[in-house]
Amino acid sequence: MDRIVVQGGARLAGEVAVSGSKNATLALMAAAVLADSETVLHNVPRLRDVDTMLEILRALGARADWHEYDEHAVRIDARSINRPEAPYDLVRKMRASFLVLGPLLARFGAARVSEPGGCAIGVRPVDQHLKGLAALGGKVRLDHGYVEVTTSGLRGAGVAFDLPTVNGTQNVMMAAVLASGDTVLENAAREPEVVELADALNKMGARVRGAGGDRIAIEGVASLRGIRHAVSGDRIEASTLLAAGLATRGDVRVTGVDTSVLESTLDKLREAGADLDVDATGARARTDGPLRGVNVVTAPFPGYPTDMQAQLMAVLTVAEGSSVLREGVFENRFMHVPELQRMGADIAVSGRTAHIRGVPGLMGAPVMATDLRASAGLIVAALAAEGETVVNRVYHIDRGYERIEEKLRSLGAAIQRED
Ligand code: EPZ
Repeated sequence: MDRIVVQGGARLAGEVAVSGSKNATLALMAAAVLADSETVLHNVPRLRDVDTMLEILRALGARADWHEYDEHAVRIDARSINRPEAPYDLVRKMRASFLVLGPLLARFGAARVSEPGGCAIGVRPVDQHLKGLAALGGKVRLDHGYVEVTTSGLRGAGVAFDLPTVNGTQNVMMAAVLASGDTVLENAAREPEVVELADALNKMGARVRGAGGDRIAIEGVASLRGIRHAVSGDRIEASTLLAAGLATRGDVRVTGVDTSVLESTLDKLREAGADLDVDATGARARTDGPLRGVNVVTAPFPGYPTDMQAQLMAVLTVAEGSSVLREGVFENRFMHVPELQRMGADIAVSGRTAHIRGVPGLMGAPVMATDLRASAGLIVAALAAEGETVVNRVYHIDRGYERIEEKLRSLGAAIQRED
């Protein structure tokens, strides 16, 4: 099992290009199921999660592979789908597989997808996905751990989500685009990945209006065609790399990302005392002294992203002063805390709130990665720590970060992967 070894203390400096967005890619790959011709996605990150989604699509009967000439592109042709069933052993590897449910239902009138079940960061129910599909005329049945949905024809409807859900909004949107009649999604998620999916669906011939706001109007169409689409840069990877630079009192610039979607993260780093230069092509964050403690609550977009919670916490453990960090989205997203405490961090957790007191420095230690973003937080802490940190179970990191150690090494980090 791979592990990553970091000799902390090196000040990170330089410029790095981020990979394509993992979460936008996964939704766009699911959307390809809707098309009656081939889809090619460019700027796709080489991640385990993308491999898993390719496997899911092939299990359905689609042609789905990495592009033969472009290692950062995938080709998907859904015309050969003959089994609208996503098997348990694949869905349990990646809950985003559940995103094929809506498209399969819309395209084939039936779908059978394993219930994703919980994961490390929380129960993560899918009740809102099913509520939306039922409103559109889907007949939902739970059958031995599988969600089975059938319909004699989806019809547009009003769907009011009880809470903003990113994949729930995407799943129901992908069903509604081929329904007959109009659909309105109320209390929709506003994340950039929802906007990018809507834009791609419109390029495919759909009629989706209002994505990015909490009310999305969809006019059903008869069919959708495959497109070529370049995936946007990963906003969480970009923010993670900036946090890594700041944790080492460095000076890092990230490129290849739409900086307009980084606002809440950059505002928080600025509040902590970072000097930021932001333009349309990239963002630069630097500091030559310790940052200040801040208070933060993670929230649905445009609030501070939950996927950047662990990484910010790592920076705050060595800031001057205290911070109060509240995890407003998931119920169990503090698994990185005990590992940070082993590195000397001063953190007290009560429920979904962590009280952090800055310490002069962290000490390297052997630590365990538990989930994707917790692992990223541990890497940020390891870069700032004095001495060696060994991060075990890095397969969690490889799910969401392409060659993270190479990107960080290009910025001056003493980091390598060992098997
Ligand atoms: C997406 O997950 C992302 N994953 C997550 O990123 C991200 O953390 C999350 O959005 C929040 O931003 C992908 O896009 C593949 P939600 P999603 O539905 O859509 C509750 C990463 O690290 N909820 O917006 O599954 C849920 O329990 C991953 O890249 C219901 O109650 O998240 C949670 O508390 C981790 N019922 C809250 O909503 C539902 O039917 C927000 O979850 C659906 C969700």
